[in-house]
Amino acid sequence: MSFIVAIDGPAGTGKGTITKLVAKDFGLINIDTGATYRCVTLEMLNQNISIHETEKIIKISENINMKIENNNGFQTIFLNEEDVTELVSQVSSIVEVRLNMVKLQRKLAEGKDVIMEGRDITTYVFPNANVKIYLDADVEERAKRRYKENLEKGINMTYEEVLEHIKWRDNNDKNKELGALRIAEDAIVIDTTKLSIEEVKQKVEEIIKKAKGEVKC
Ligand code: C5P
Repeated sequence: MSFIVAIDGPAGTGKGTITKLVAKDFGLINIDTGATYRCVTLEMLNQNISIHETEKIIKISENINMKIENNNGFQTIFLNEEDVTELVSQVSSIVEVRLNMVKLQRKLAEGKDVIMEGRDITTYVFPNANVKIYLDADVEERAKRRYKENLEKGINMTYEEVLEHIKWRDNNDKNKELGALRIAEDAIVIDTTKLSIEEVKQKVEEIIKKAKGEVKC
């Protein structure tokens, strides 16, 4: 039987970084579900399709084929810039696209021990996951983190612009018709606002160990 760790939360809470580290420590396959939506968006841009051509976007999502390589998750997703990410967010709001991606995400996890991060993993993709965690942080702190990351990547945006982007994305993620971002009733919430990556990692790993029965309480 497979073991599933599901992690949700808004942009900038460190989900990607944490899941990579935890995946390594526990030998879990890391599935970044945002990458599946980025993949559809990338193909849409390659084919010069606009966000208004819903039928064509749905068609793309029906034929997207992603593989997991070397337990490292997806390797060739280029769409990390903030402006493109808003487009990804719009693409991921199309109900039929979500249904196709959720099917793909479940298939990728089939029979495997995985750690999967996104927005609706604990509530919709794997509501019966062995471990369900919601990572959160104040919006200003998340914007600060993203702003710093952007500087390192050479992306030129002011802190105020990054903050606006994150607020826009939060709003979009929380108001999706299907798979909206919300805290599952039985999820453990970790507020990362004042925590370092290492501290968050430790908390997540303690929760996983408990679920695996390695730590008695
Ligand atoms: O996680 P990441 O920032 O890469 O996701 C990009 C966008 O894809 C998010 O802003 C969100 O709108 C969408 N997404 C989603 N459901 C997921 C993962 C990502 O709607 N499970």
